[in-house]
Amino acid sequence: MRPLRGTVATSLALVGFALAIIVAAPAGPADVASEMEPRPLPRTAPDPGENPATPDKVALGRLLFFDPVLSSSRDVSCATCHDPRHGWADSRSTPIGVGGSGAGPGRVFTGADPGPLLPRNTPTLLDVGFNGLVSGAGPDPSKAPMFWDSRVAGLERQVPVPLRTPGEMCAGPCDGDDAMDGAVRRVRAIPGYREKFRAAFGGSDAEAVDATRLTRAIAAFERSLVAPPTPVDRFLAGDTAALDAAQRQGLRAFRDAGCIHCHGGPMFSDFKPHAVDVNGASGSRSGPRAFRTPSLRNLRHTAPYMHDGRLRTLRDVLVFYDDLAEAVSETSDGGVAAGHVPLDPLLARLRLSPDDFPVLEAFLDSLSTDAFDRTIPASVPSGLPVLGAR
Ligand code: HEC
Ligand code: HEC
Repeated sequence: MRPLRGTVATSLALVGFALAIIVAAPAGPADVASEMEPRPLPRTAPDPGENPATPDKVALGRLLFFDPVLSSSRDVSCATCHDPRHGWADSRSTPIGVGGSGAGPGRVFTGADPGPLLPRNTPTLLDVGFNGLVSGAGPDPSKAPMFWDSRVAGLERQVPVPLRTPGEMCAGPCDGDDAMDGAVRRVRAIPGYREKFRAAFGGSDAEAVDATRLTRAIAAFERSLVAPPTPVDRFLAGDTAALDAAQRQGLRAFRDAGCIHCHGGPMFSDFKPHAVDVNGASGSRSGPRAFRTPSLRNLRHTAPYMHDGRLRTLRDVLVFYDDLAEAVSETSDGGVAAGHVPLDPLLARLRLSPDDFPVLEAFLDSLSTDAFDRTIPASVPSGLPVLGAR
């Protein structure tokens, strides 16, 4: 869909040049694994072979994504939580699904029973098609890690989860297959959808809508949510003027501080689980839980931060790491701990100075752009309010 092959070739050719600049920058950790070097993001997310993107499929996926008909209560869409006006997330610590009304931070419970709480922060879907991409080729898209704990593989397999999760898009008893069957039945009853499914996938009117096609259309749409190149992408592609002095200094500080051991590569994530959470709600007697390193792209639009959304600003995050660096000590058995809490050994390499906070913030901000796709359809085929907002 995007005729940008030339750009990819050019940026690949220039990566070596940009890497030379970074490597030549004074004093970074000498032992950064080469796949953790920062890289510009490719311009298109790879499709799994069985689900190539087509314009009709992506357009259908967008309508489904914004249509509350997918929820059993018909008032929550995927976009209730993944809202383009909030960076394809919701600007909340943790979301409110069924039983709520309003959008973003203003959303409140209005139902009789607040229902089960959803414990995790909503991740953005911008650039989600690159989940798992650390170096070069990247993973088979059908195996891309999804969720804070990477418990689901691939966008197609992720789609049914919110439909059957109590409190998310399912009110009442939420049996997995029933939730998807119910959504398919509601969509199939709408002539406008049958027509669009036939245009995207072919087949007769009777068999136009099924669960596989519904998940494929939504996943293809999600892969289209690629943020345009950020200043860091342009810098890494050879445009040395794309970052100002503070941002370049911030990039050096980011390497020197050791952030890059986990937040490297094109997505600024190794997509591996790490326990960095000392005080978090997830702490248990066996120690903190490990969560997947989140990407550092698009942070300007996705506050609050961390798996439970408890840190409000990037400054709060930097203070968190600074405290952590101070608290971390090597234990006699070769582990790393803060107090009695076992932590990821890579945290022993953190070297952070509060003097660097302003330039680190400047650098992190240059991994975002405001020019991303924020298109909200004017209407959806169910005729329900778009997004489910009331
Ligand atoms: C009630 C809010 C809510 C709704 C509605 C919702 N999501 Fe999410 N979404 C979340 C939260 C919270 C997470 C993280 C959950 C976790 O990690 O356990 C998430 C995670 C995801 C992820 C994984 C992203 C990543 O980088 O790991 C994808 C993809 C996604 N949602 C797509 C969808 C789609 C498609 C729909 C509609 C079918 C949808 N979501 C509906 C809140 C919501
Ligand atoms: C040992 C690996 C590791 C290192 C080193 C590390 N991080 Fe993280 N980072 C993580 C993980 C894992 C999370 C998610 C933790 C959680 O929510 O419990 C995270 C979360 C974040 C977030 C929140 C992102 C979001 O979307 O919520 C930011 C910002 C961040 N880190 C920046 C940094 C900076 C800056 C440094 C260097 C000072 C750094 N990290 C060092 C692994 C690491």
